Amino acid sequence: MFIKKSQRYVSPPVVMSGPDCLEDAAFQMAKLGKKALVVTDATMREVGLVKKLEHLLQQAGIAAAVFDQVNEEPTTRHVEDGVACLEENDCQFLVGLGGGSPIDAAKIIAAAAKHGQSAKEFQGIDQIKGPILPLVAVPTTAGTGTEVTRVSIITDKSDHVKMLMMSDYLVPDMAVCDSALTLSMPRSLTAATGLDALTHAVEAYISVKAQPMTDILALEAVRLLSRYLRRAWCNGSDQEARYYTMHAATLAGLAFSNSSVALVHGMSRPIGACFNVPHGISNAVLLPAVCRFTLPGAVERFAHLAEAMGEPVQGLSRLEAAERAVTFLERLCSDFNMRGLKNAGVDRAELDKMAAKMARDAIASGSPGNNPRVATEEEIIQLYADAY
Ligand SMILES: [Fe+2]
Repeated sequence: MFIKKSQRYVSPPVVMSGPDCLEDAAFQMAKLGKKALVVTDATMREVGLVKKLEHLLQQAGIAAAVFDQVNEEPTTRHVEDGVACLEENDCQFLVGLGGGSPIDAAKIIAAAAKHGQSAKEFQGIDQIKGPILPLVAVPTTAGTGTEVTRVSIITDKSDHVKMLMMSDYLVPDMAVCDSALTLSMPRSLTAATGLDALTHAVEAYISVKAQPMTDILALEAVRLLSRYLRRAWCNGSDQEARYYTMHAATLAGLAFSNSSVALVHGMSRPIGACFNVPHGISNAVLLPAVCRFTLPGAVERFAHLAEAMGEPVQGLSRLEAAERAVTFLERLCSDFNMRGLKNAGVDRAELDKMAAKMARDAIASGSPGNNPRVATEEEIIQLYADAY
């Protein structure tokens, strides 16, 4: 790829990886402060991971307070309550523990506490004016990649909009990619989060903002997910599959954080905000239809993706090869039972009522503008119907 413009690539200073790396990571966190606020959810407490983290932090000489209220996709309310908890307990740094939601919340709590501002003021690109409180991200799913990205998504409950916040200051100081923490993920969550990671990789690769650094990461993420995600889904205790799936999710996170996501994510966020469909599922049900729409704008790139997926493309035209990538995604989503918005619990009449607003919100987020085939508002409304 020949790039004429200057490119930037941003990543966390420290990325720990491998099964059980959390223990080593806890000792490294001592550099960040003596008291941490653990931002998490009730499930992490129930399965004993909060206790485990508290114990490891204690061994490293770090006290911890716990804010375990992020039990759904994070909202402005979570941020306000998290800041209050942090200030009450006089914490110096934050540890986001869980899926994408607690980590995204931890990012904005760290920004809001440092700058004395509300979450809404950070909406958009580069709206955070300086460094935030030190932040460690400990994902327990393999999907969002938020442990390495400069992105956070916070829902404004007052108008059902998922606010996209993007800033270099949101890149965590340390990402702890401990694949042992993903072993207990149920099958449905493995599928939803894994397909989110695959969507990140595909969109980062076809994005008009792709660059050579992100291409390498995105293709490797697609290659690994194509080989290991089914295995992790079939047998959750397959440690090798869990390791490579988590590694791929981190690579995909680095890729889209420095390239971008595109039309799938742009359209997915309004579904989550309006119908409470989890992010991974709303992506997965859109992915095949949106890729089929996008294909004419990126034939060569989709052909590369088909090769990375391990599809037999020798002897095919580039268009035929590109179509193999889309059929691969259709098959995978179908195998994982991600079959349309109807199956995801979305009511058709409500969707028809909301579709025009959702299309406008999607376009306003900026992500659809990075798609190699730009969709009009009418085309996005049609794609919502197609994905039903
Ligand atoms: Fe995503």
